[in-house]
Amino acid sequence: MLYIGVDLGTSAVKLLLMDEDGDIHRVVSKEYPLFFPQPGWSEQRPEDWFQKTVEGLKELLSDCDRSEVAGISFGGQMHGLVILDAQDRVIRPAILWNDGRTGEETDYLNRVIGKDKLSEYTGNIAFAGFTAPKLLWVKKHEPEHFAAIEKIMLPKDYLAYRLSGVHCTDVSDASGMLLFDVKNRCWSKEMCEICGIRMDQLAKVYESYEVVGTLLPQIAKELDLPEGVKVIAGAGDNAAAAVGTGTVGDGKCNISLGTSGTIFISSRHFCVDEHNALHAFAHADGTWHLMGCMLSAASCNKWWMDDILGTSDYAGEQAAITKLGENRVFFLPYLMGERSPHNDPNARGTFIGMTMDTSRADMTQAVLEGVAFALRDSFEVAKSLGIRIEKTRICGGGAKSPLWRQIIANVLGIPVERIASEEGPGYGGAILAAVGCGAFESVEEAARKLVKAAGTDEPDAVLTAEYEARYQQFRQIYPACRQLFDQLVF
Ligand code: XUL
Repeated sequence: MLYIGVDLGTSAVKLLLMDEDGDIHRVVSKEYPLFFPQPGWSEQRPEDWFQKTVEGLKELLSDCDRSEVAGISFGGQMHGLVILDAQDRVIRPAILWNDGRTGEETDYLNRVIGKDKLSEYTGNIAFAGFTAPKLLWVKKHEPEHFAAIEKIMLPKDYLAYRLSGVHCTDVSDASGMLLFDVKNRCWSKEMCEICGIRMDQLAKVYESYEVVGTLLPQIAKELDLPEGVKVIAGAGDNAAAAVGTGTVGDGKCNISLGTSGTIFISSRHFCVDEHNALHAFAHADGTWHLMGCMLSAASCNKWWMDDILGTSDYAGEQAAITKLGENRVFFLPYLMGERSPHNDPNARGTFIGMTMDTSRADMTQAVLEGVAFALRDSFEVAKSLGIRIEKTRICGGGAKSPLWRQIIANVLGIPVERIASEEGPGYGGAILAAVGCGAFESVEEAARKLVKAAGTDEPDAVLTAEYEARYQQFRQIYPACRQLFDQLVF
């Protein structure tokens, strides 16, 4: 049988077709626009997601035996607010995970409601990109839109809704809304009251591998698929990527180097760190995970290459890098503010340490290193909880760069393993579809049988020591700039 995995990303939707042996038959990608209507804001049109997904599905299925297609599932960008009115019309563009407009609402939740209460109700505190502060923002700034809300959705759930007609979500994605009691895997009545919404505006919650319905007849017809193709709930992109890299069960780690950068640690038990610096979310395999999320990771490199250097030759620029462990230039990768661990929407990208002999290559290197150091910040929080991380897997567009993987291995001081399938969330989505269709007993079994490692980047003892000294310098820069960032925001 064949399974479709849909990775609803920030720059594009990536679709893949996988068989029950885990072999990928085809991958298709379709881009859509991202809008920044004001500095720090980030929006997309849900209709673009749906249109591009349908276009992508047609291409994906163009030369396969469609009668073999059994199920479809998703890994989707998390936290985005999609609101529908009583006629099922999208009320306003989706407000995305990397949108920083909710500073005031986040402060209100953390300070007035209080972090203790939030953590008690949801296992998490408020971060600017989470969904609940966005609802409060809409309530205050667009009351007519707030009054019209009939359904509240997350990005991938909008796709599932258009494909199946079912208003659903899954435990991993729901975890990022700050409306969900993560420990007990159900909506929080208290958080709904705090946000002024009704429980029935929220979707029915499923485990990520559960079937929510089948393709609507008109969609099946348009795609020339048999009726009865199952739609499986799917997961937030990080949980899906973790499934796609075999990061399931206890104490495993995955780094995702996409538009965002995340460090994801699976856990059989629900746990929270003392300051809620890491997100405590439900995992797609039926367990839980901790996660640190930086808002700009591979996107820093893309910005530096495309917009500043004006080149598409990423490998060529990286080949000129010669100062591993010795760079005197530092880069703070906070181009969209920062989530973990600083929780500061006002933080900004910063180069520091240049001299007259600083070269283009040094600055390119600083961008790659800045992202690795910022990942290390979340890694340190995990270590402070007593979690021993001895190695990690890696996925996402940035993971294709051997140099960047090597820098990360040395900055973290642990081996970094690559996976044969680089399509983290899409592959995870297809695996969840296979589990939902009954091809495997559990997500853990499917991941064990299907996910194959493709090689390891080992840390080098000398470079690890040099990067340790550099990291200790890096971690002093943000505290020194923090107040200035607040003054710079206008
Ligand atoms: C995770 C997060 C990002 C998005 C990217 O908390 O906000 O990783 O899911 O798509």
